[in-house]
Amino acid sequence: MISSITARAIVYNQYGEPKDEIKCHSYKINLENLKPDDIVVESIACPINPSDINQIQGVYPSKPPLSLTSLPNLNNPAAVTGNEGLFKVIAKGSNVNNFENGDWCIPKNVNFGTWCTHKSALNNEFIKIPKTISINEAATIAVNPSSAYQMLTYFEKLQPGDWFIQNGANSQVGRAAIQIAKKLGLNSLNIVRNRDNINELKNDLISLGATKVITEDDNNSKDFGKTIKSWLNGKEIKLGLNCVGGSSVTGLARKLGHDATLLTYGGMSMKPVILPTSLFIFKNLTAKGFWITGNITRFPNSRLETIEAVIKMMEDGDIVEPSYEETNVKISELTDDKLLEIFVNGLINSKQGKQLIKFE
Ligand SMILES: NC(=O)c1ccc[n+]([C@@H]2O[C@H](COP(=O)([O-])OP(=O)(O)OC[C@H]3O[C@@H](n4cnc5c(N)ncnc54)[C@H](OP(=O)(O)O)[C@@H]3O)[C@@H](O)[C@H]2O)c1
Repeated sequence: MISSITARAIVYNQYGEPKDEIKCHSYKINLENLKPDDIVVESIACPINPSDINQIQGVYPSKPPLSLTSLPNLNNPAAVTGNEGLFKVIAKGSNVNNFENGDWCIPKNVNFGTWCTHKSALNNEFIKIPKTISINEAATIAVNPSSAYQMLTYFEKLQPGDWFIQNGANSQVGRAAIQIAKKLGLNSLNIVRNRDNINELKNDLISLGATKVITEDDNNSKDFGKTIKSWLNGKEIKLGLNCVGGSSVTGLARKLGHDATLLTYGGMSMKPVILPTSLFIFKNLTAKGFWITGNITRFPNSRLETIEAVIKMMEDGDIVEPSYEETNVKISELTDDKLLEIFVNGLINSKQGKQLIKFE
């Protein structure tokens, strides 16, 4: 058995433009004499999410501290990047009986620092993940599909046949919400940005289970409201999910029924949430924010309960694997410069599509 391995991690020492601030830090992990409750894990895959980027920029409310103790042998206080990712256990301490070598796991909490090749940590910092779902699903289960699940189930008691409405419906959260809603028997009214191949996108979302897909132009059109009313057939929309803000959320909110809840979970347009006063007064609208990270403390069992529910839906084929731009990395051939280059390119390319770094 190998007695030690070289671990590499992407770190930053100060906040700023992510591609300029990240660095690779390497250090040894001794596989012999592990602390009794520790496990050593090797990365299988990690995504680059908007919140990871916002953390390095220093603009995300939850961020790991810049500390000399984040990793061994640091010369300057640093934080390890990445909140989400899938690992496999490669060594365990003498007290560990809930994991075997080869088991898959994900971090139990955020700010774990998942952009790395290996990590040594307490076994209770991880949730075991069954190999009944794919690597890509497991590596990205904790943020996007989990947010969609909580937004659809924690705030309004929706019954089969009820409607919800969402903008940014082509986002990964939006696509997961469409599929989870279908499984729950809910109708979804989905708003997407217009594009040349809009029918292709509409058909794609309908094949996932969307009830109706409309464009932002439809959302902002008074006339189109009549068409939507005819679809609802007397029902009122009880829940709205907003990841865009600006005029998109104004149009979305106007379609909500009495006593509905509007959850804002993203601000992709970078514009404020603008809501007509009348909706609050005459329809008793409740508008609140949603943050899955905050829910870990607000609803203590939420992370585990949500992940178990989402795993079941993935196993049953109710949620299909999202698409990613994948970069494959051979850990045995890595250098510090190579790992850094991979993540810098991932950050640059993340504007074109969701990036997933896969290790082998
Ligand atoms: N609060 C939470 O707990 C939580 C959890 C998960 C995600 N989020 C947030 O949710 C958002 C979506 O995340 P994701 O990973 O699902 O994103 P994603 O898959 O990368 O998709 C981003 C979506 O945003 C849309 N978009 C981008 N700029 C826009 C604009 N100016 N106006 C309207 N739409 C725009 C894109 O529309 P096109 O399809 O037209 O390109 C795309 O569908 C992000 O803001 C993320 O930070 C929040």
